[in-house]
Amino acid sequence: MAGTALAHPNIALIKYWGKREAGANVPATGSLSITLDALATRTRVEFDATLARDELLLDGKSDPFTLARVTACLDSLRAIAHDARRARVETRNDFPTAAGLASSASGFAALVTAASAALGLRLDRRTLSKVARRASGSAARSLCGGFVVLHAGRDDDDDPAAQPLLAANEWPLSVVIAITTRAQKETGSRAGMQSSRGSSPFYSAWLERADHDLAIAQAAVLARDFAQLAEISEHNCLKMHAVMQSSRPPLIYWNGATVECMRRVRELREREGAQVFFTIDAGPQVKAICVPEDAARVAAALGEVPGLESVLTSGIGEGARALQTEEIA
Ligand code: DP6
Repeated sequence: MAGTALAHPNIALIKYWGKREAGANVPATGSLSITLDALATRTRVEFDATLARDELLLDGKSDPFTLARVTACLDSLRAIAHDARRARVETRNDFPTAAGLASSASGFAALVTAASAALGLRLDRRTLSKVARRASGSAARSLCGGFVVLHAGRDDDDDPAAQPLLAANEWPLSVVIAITTRAQKETGSRAGMQSSRGSSPFYSAWLERADHDLAIAQAAVLARDFAQLAEISEHNCLKMHAVMQSSRPPLIYWNGATVECMRRVRELREREGAQVFFTIDAGPQVKAICVPEDAARVAAALGEVPGLESVLTSGIGEGARALQTEEIA
């Protein structure tokens, strides 16, 4: 009774930041993401009747905080399967965990895919996406590849699933990831969102324009309109960070190199003719989305920013999938 799966992280161009009060981890803002092919989480899940509780090894180490979330996520699949057995979960990221590279997105997408395979459940992607969303909102999107939309919860649908908008090969953009530090962030997204909702004076303005930003970005993706997608994505990202920074206590995820990368990306676009824009999540890393022809010069330019740790380039990847092999390393 073992299953293995691989999932890629995704980065949001239109951000999910805030939850509805009611429901099971229901986003208050719709989001649009791209799935990254260069980074991956591999997870193996084995259900075992002799275990008294679930066990987790994350990159070779136990992690009680994440284990509680893993158990809650496995509980919903155990309920569907009418199977009470506990599981041994082993998961590995080939990139730094919890440093703003969306490890919870790929982590929970891989977990639900591996666990449902191990339980012999034949769940469709929509159902898996909902189960993953309850564990971590952004994980719902990593079930799908390419450009992906996750709508906000509504009164008539308080259990949204992610939907693919455009396949990876239909608009093969590149993403240059500027890693400014490998340190783990201080405040996770969950606590940060809760704080923003309760304390940022800009939170209601953020919610009011969320559907509008998503609609503009969706149209830009379908029209392959890079300039339009660049404008709305940077605007949406900076609004989210304005909400974060105006929370009490403030959530300042940037460091000096983060700011310098943003400035350099804008210079590349506005003065040097590159088709590139930036986005930043709840961490200090900068993701520069560009056309593949410009990826090498964007990577070279960001690589020269003082204080940068490293730069890596990714294409757009596929959704989570079960693996045949038992090996995850
Ligand atoms: C800034 O999906 O990590 O990356 O649902 O509480 O687990 P939880 O939050 P999470 O939040 C992601 C926030 C973000 C923006 C985004 O990915 O849309």
